[in-house]
Amino acid sequence: MNSPQVTLPPHSDNLTKMLAKAGFTNQQQEYLQYFINRYSDRTKTSKQISQNSRLFLSDDKNLGEFNLLFKEIYYPIVANRSLGSKIWDVDGNEYVDVMMGLGINLFGHNPSFIKEALINQIDKGIQIGPQSELVGEVAELISQLTGMERVCFSNTGTEAVMTAIRIARAVTGRNKIVIFSGSYHGHFDGTLVKGHNAENNQSAIPLAPGVLPNFVNDVLVLDYAKPESLEIIKTHQQELAAVLVVPVQTSRPALQPKEFLYQLRELTQATEIALIFDEMVTGFRIHPGGAQAYFGIQADIATYGKIVGGGIPIGVIAGKSKYMDAIDGGMWNYGDDSYPQTKKTFFAGTFCKHPLAMAAAKAVLKYLQTEGLSLHHKLNERTTQFVTDLNNYFAAEKLPLKMANFGSLFGSASVELSEDNYTASVAMSLLKYHLLDKGVHLLGISGYLSTAHTDEDISYIIQAVKDSVEQLRSGGFLPPRPAV
Ligand SMILES: Cc1ncc(COP(=O)(O)O)c(C=O)c1O
Repeated sequence: MNSPQVTLPPHSDNLTKMLAKAGFTNQQQEYLQYFINRYSDRTKTSKQISQNSRLFLSDDKNLGEFNLLFKEIYYPIVANRSLGSKIWDVDGNEYVDVMMGLGINLFGHNPSFIKEALINQIDKGIQIGPQSELVGEVAELISQLTGMERVCFSNTGTEAVMTAIRIARAVTGRNKIVIFSGSYHGHFDGTLVKGHNAENNQSAIPLAPGVLPNFVNDVLVLDYAKPESLEIIKTHQQELAAVLVVPVQTSRPALQPKEFLYQLRELTQATEIALIFDEMVTGFRIHPGGAQAYFGIQADIATYGKIVGGGIPIGVIAGKSKYMDAIDGGMWNYGDDSYPQTKKTFFAGTFCKHPLAMAAAKAVLKYLQTEGLSLHHKLNERTTQFVTDLNNYFAAEKLPLKMANFGSLFGSASVELSEDNYTASVAMSLLKYHLLDKGVHLLGISGYLSTAHTDEDISYIIQAVKDSVEQLRSGGFLPPRPAV
């Protein structure tokens, strides 16, 4: 069925009224009008597709929270092709991509070694039900790279985290878990929490309507990287099944609390609480062995996804046999009297160990193994240089912006801008839209570099930032250039 064609209404009148009401100066109003018109025109097919599908498609995937001010440019860029560091949208615009599949594409878009593995598997067929012949090999490769003893596959990161928590509760026989503020663990009800520190009670409350308080009663939300949190863990040690930690949070790449993580490891070891590293983003990115190898800390269970699936949905739960045996009862052999002895929990999923995911994962893991540490060293160093160059520019221009990186993940090191002041938060949103307008595809002011990004791409991004800042200054959204 063809989608009905929708004619987009002229938006200038509504926008003018709204801008005046929001207290923008004439200079700012005029600039916003100009920019919003320009951006909508440049990406008009993406906008049209968004409008056409909205009636039937319930979809919250977009560029951050809805803001009435940016309503006319609130739609995702619709991609039609990608290769290496680039994507092309349905209007034919080219972008240097730093969204990079939300952290999936460590090697850029559509690298030939993954493409070949996928085509090869498609030629052989997609067999769900019988075991994929690659499963054992992929599990072994993950074990070799991460140092984890046993491995189990799910379809998404959310499922992997949900399963890791279930395993920890099953093995320890305890109910409560600790989550740290600022971390995202996917959309399982049991982790959709926010802390509320009323009367020193760290228990969580639901993050969103529909998540039942009963689901999160046994979750404590503690401040990340704060020594007090270790004290609270000590207090609750008898009840805690697991501490779940994203070692370096995507939203706070500057916070890399090595010492805290060491102390957390010591404490959880001594109190027999399962330490779960959620390595969805850090896994295979910061180091072939993830944040555990980088910091020199061995967790009890780790969850992975994103990169390892090579673009195909995957989740990985890996860990010590003590925990992972709860999936299958543990190791046994034919021809003797051994049998699965460990008490099991429940785990299943129609699409788990999907042949395409296994084929792509094998290609990714083999590639990482062959390339060795130098791949990560080079990419991480280039990202550090990129962030340093940007920060030097921000400092020279006296702009209240600072970036940080953890390996090839980069993001804002100063979140004050977007929280404190309305004009500043508008400026940050506008910066994102200006970068998109100049051909840098990103989500928020953060992203990922890949091995496919060239020096030319990096210079292009830096120039786009500089040009965007100048434009925002001309529109009255950033302070003028300081006198020399
Ligand atoms: C640290 C972390 N854990 C879990 C998830 C959830 O993974 P998925 O989106 O594959 O369900 C994410 C997703 O971004 C994540 O960043």
